[in-house]
Amino acid sequence: MKKTYTITAALPYTNGPIHIGHLAGVYIPADIFSRFMRLTGNDVVYICGSDEHGVPITIKAKKEGLTPNDIVNRYHSNIKKSFEDFGISFDNYSRTSSELHHKTASDFFLHLHDNNFFKEITTEQFYDVDENQFLPDRFIVGTCPKCNYEKSYGDQCEKCGTSHNAIDLIDPKSSITGNSPSLKETKHWYLKLDEFQSFLEDWILKKHKSDWKANVFGQCKSWLDDGLKPRAVTRDLDWGVSVPLNDSDGKVLYVWFDAPIGYISSTKEWATNNNLDWEKYWKNSDTELIHFIGKDNIVFHCIIFPAMLKAHGDYILPKNVPANEFLNLEGSKISTSNNWAVWLPDYLKDFPNKQDALRYVLTVNAPENKDNDFTWKDFQARNNNELVAIYGNFINRVVVLINKYYDGIIPESADLDDEDMKLLNKINQQSILIKELIERFKFREACNEYINIARNGNKYLADNEPWKLIKINPDRVKNIMFISLQISSILAIIGEPFLPFASEKLKNILNFKNHNIEWSWNNLDSGDILIKPGVKINHAELLFEKIEDTEIEFQLEKLRKAKANL
Ligand code: MF3
Ligand code: ZN
Repeated sequence: MKKTYTITAALPYTNGPIHIGHLAGVYIPADIFSRFMRLTGNDVVYICGSDEHGVPITIKAKKEGLTPNDIVNRYHSNIKKSFEDFGISFDNYSRTSSELHHKTASDFFLHLHDNNFFKEITTEQFYDVDENQFLPDRFIVGTCPKCNYEKSYGDQCEKCGTSHNAIDLIDPKSSITGNSPSLKETKHWYLKLDEFQSFLEDWILKKHKSDWKANVFGQCKSWLDDGLKPRAVTRDLDWGVSVPLNDSDGKVLYVWFDAPIGYISSTKEWATNNNLDWEKYWKNSDTELIHFIGKDNIVFHCIIFPAMLKAHGDYILPKNVPANEFLNLEGSKISTSNNWAVWLPDYLKDFPNKQDALRYVLTVNAPENKDNDFTWKDFQARNNNELVAIYGNFINRVVVLINKYYDGIIPESADLDDEDMKLLNKINQQSILIKELIERFKFREACNEYINIARNGNKYLADNEPWKLIKINPDRVKNIMFISLQISSILAIIGEPFLPFASEKLKNILNFKNHNIEWSWNNLDSGDILIKPGVKINHAELLFEKIEDTEIEFQLEKLRKAKANL
């Protein structure tokens, strides 16, 4: 049945380029899911945009002697281009500095304010006297009271993931001057989260115990068990969405208040550009809202944003929040500040046209249920032994042989024997399994199963050796090649969410528009034959290329240098 999906991918902070951890954790899984849902005939909007507020951007600007605006302009284009380059198929990529977003976030805040969901509280907060400014969130660095990590930020510890109040840090310092901060009184607006405790318990703990991932459910439960407290949603900063009230000079909305509303404003922007009704995607109870995020975003997407949506009243809540764990790089945590990462623009420079190879490795090795490690050796091995030696080799053999034996024209098959039928049935089962796995957010397994289809095809050719039979039993060879082409066409269709570039290429090689039935995912379930005898296919083109040891050595050397510079 056709459904409406609003699929969001966490808005990346605009203070650096995108790296493989971002891709593996959020954008590839969300892209696989979105492409799949479109391919199976659903009404999909896949939404993202740049998260341009928040303290890290201000800090980076200060360091470089630029304005926050300069920083976000630079990285907004850089990030947007990386997503396009890697085939991340957003329907809209917006930015939170846009006027539409400011207005949407501001109205949202006012609506909650008018309906009495905020408490005004005056407290003492850290202040840097030399800089003449308050020190919210990352402007404070100190020792985490929970895990003793010495470089914890004021709002969150990157080591243990705990969110806290700056005031609870041990030995806090201003991250601008290194000064020990003083305290100064200031007033802020607090969302009365405590009033949502029982609603959230009912919604998450009762209704989503079995369909949300264990890591997500576990974090939510621990937040709820601790008891929710009112939470400040404004800050003393000059960069962000201004608080739309009197008596709020120098105050902006907390970045975690405005950013998720960015999903809504990005949807509005897209709908306006396409003459569509945005409300259907956020207010229709049949619409499935799915948030793809990394594990450090769980509380914001499962507790705080749902409370905001609920408080507003008109909005649907997320159906699922399939958060991933983290991807490490060669055994160490990926870190922007330590330059321990593989940045997408760099990857593309070193491996032009190898986007699918990276997409593939990051999918089969995704940190779905636990943190995982990316290593260059594994990347090379999977590219060479799986994409090239199995998938690429199979397709290449099929296309070359059809061209060689039949001048590229698909042969008529005779009756298929038991072994052929068994193989086709098996592959039909695999395609159904892949569908179920994607629907359950199990993209690793789905992608492995996908390569297994190619593996089965490859084995079938190797076992049947048409090149030995062509002289003695040409009729049998026609069947073998026909079956192999049927498998190739299935690979082209199912591969699109995982390997969109190779899939497109393959479809064109096989002349996908000229066959019996439309090459759509929904036509796979029946197991019907997709290809049409008499159609001429095109010449072989390599889908994947081998990666040499020297290329991997070059990458490892880069990382050694990064380590040495620490
Ligand atoms: N910028 C945040 C991060 O990178 C994610 C924001 S997601 C949103 O962790 F929902 F707030 F948009
Ligand atoms: Zn900690």
